[in-house]
Amino acid sequence: MANEPIFDVRATTPDEWRVACDTMRAALLTGPMSDDDWAKAQAGWEDHLSFTAWADDRCVGHAGAFRFDTVVPGGARVATAGVTRVGVLPTATRHGLLSRMMRDLLVASRADGRVLASLRASEAVIYRRFGFGVAADSHSVRLDTRRARPIGGAAPGSVRVLQRSEILDVVPAIYDRIIARPGAITRPTFLWERYLDDALVGDKAGHVVVHTSVDGVDDGFAHYTVAWHEEPFIDTYGVGEVHDVFGSTAAVELALWEFLVGIDLIRHFDVEERPLDDPMRLAVRDRRACETKQRFDEQWLRLLDVESCLAARTYRPGPALTIAVRDPWFDDNDDVFEVGSQRIVRLGRSAAADLTVEIDVLSAAYLGAVSWSELAAVGVVAGDATAVARADDLFASRPLAWCGSFF
Ligand SMILES: CC(C)(COP(=O)(O)OP(=O)(O)OC[C@H]1O[C@@H](n2cnc3c(N)ncnc32)[C@H](O)[C@@H]1OP(=O)(O)O)[C@@H](O)C(=O)NCCC(=O)NCCS
Repeated sequence: MANEPIFDVRATTPDEWRVACDTMRAALLTGPMSDDDWAKAQAGWEDHLSFTAWADDRCVGHAGAFRFDTVVPGGARVATAGVTRVGVLPTATRHGLLSRMMRDLLVASRADGRVLASLRASEAVIYRRFGFGVAADSHSVRLDTRRARPIGGAAPGSVRVLQRSEILDVVPAIYDRIIARPGAITRPTFLWERYLDDALVGDKAGHVVVHTSVDGVDDGFAHYTVAWHEEPFIDTYGVGEVHDVFGSTAAVELALWEFLVGIDLIRHFDVEERPLDDPMRLAVRDRRACETKQRFDEQWLRLLDVESCLAARTYRPGPALTIAVRDPWFDDNDDVFEVGSQRIVRLGRSAAADLTVEIDVLSAAYLGAVSWSELAAVGVVAGDATAVARADDLFASRPLAWCGSFF
């Protein structure tokens, strides 16, 4: 076609980060960044894998990946590419540019030592073709504080409100020490600064509280924001948003919820992202105090290195199973693996397999929150019912996988 631009995809150089950022933001329905915002955001581009698409010499697309670790069943943390900042300008969509950027990005991520890729999707129809599957759901809830009280099962201890100046010294260290739920990720510093913004600067009523055990150990924290519902005082009340509640045990989280629902004036909290099996749901006095507003696909995963990922997690005891994996992008993933509670063995492509799946299906089943039988029911697992039931037993994991960190 006449005037068709020449498309190119390549690694972004540091002097191209800002145009890449504005391009991605335009694709995601957002305006360009102000100089002040860029000064704050730039750090988040530094430790970042980044690919851009160009039409002649104009930047028309971007896809990147943060580096962090993901907790897997058994507690190990695996090196992860957090795929992010994905967008192609409307003038250049459907020319295969995301496909090219994604391929380069995942290959570079693996070369960088990432064994897993993870993302949050704007639309659920985009990423399966690249080997991603939904490994865990999340939900947002509204918590009616008066109906929730009292909350049962809370750990003894005390709660203190942090001063702004101490938040970044205290909270990331607690979080890093206590995260154990499969699906949780380590949070790089720039993500902490982004998440905690309203508690660190500005005039919003963002707060962070820490729970301390009776032995004097800081074992959990909550981050929340409160505001008047309408004008203060006259026939009105306060409302809030809870951004984080993390505890070393369910009982510690319940102690933090107990504190939150006891805050005077607050009628309800909106809670953006919580696990489906959040202990708080059963601990409130009135079960309907906690209302699910939306359930959504939180965690899209793609195993980049199948053998390493399978070996990193633990399994329930039971007979081993052979799984044939099909992966059009990474040759060494395309193999038959024996998966047992003691070891993972690569058997070679010609070996017989109990189950056969594409890489997106294995990725969906990986954290044990999506069962093999659910996947088999929709025709994406080849194998008999006995093998599927065995896979369910081997892979199952509680508590349910959940992340709670949007990126
Ligand atoms: C999503 C997006 C990046 C896709 O970029 P793109 O360069 O058009 O994607 P590609 O041309 O490589 O598409 C590859 C395939 O996926 C399909 N596809 C891509 N995006 C799709 C979408 N949003 N809905 C349905 N199908 C889509 C294409 O039709 C194509 O299918 P084919 O292989 O059968 O031809 C682009 O549409 C976009 O920027 N959307 C708005 C921002 C956004 O949602 N970003 C994602 C944030 S998580």
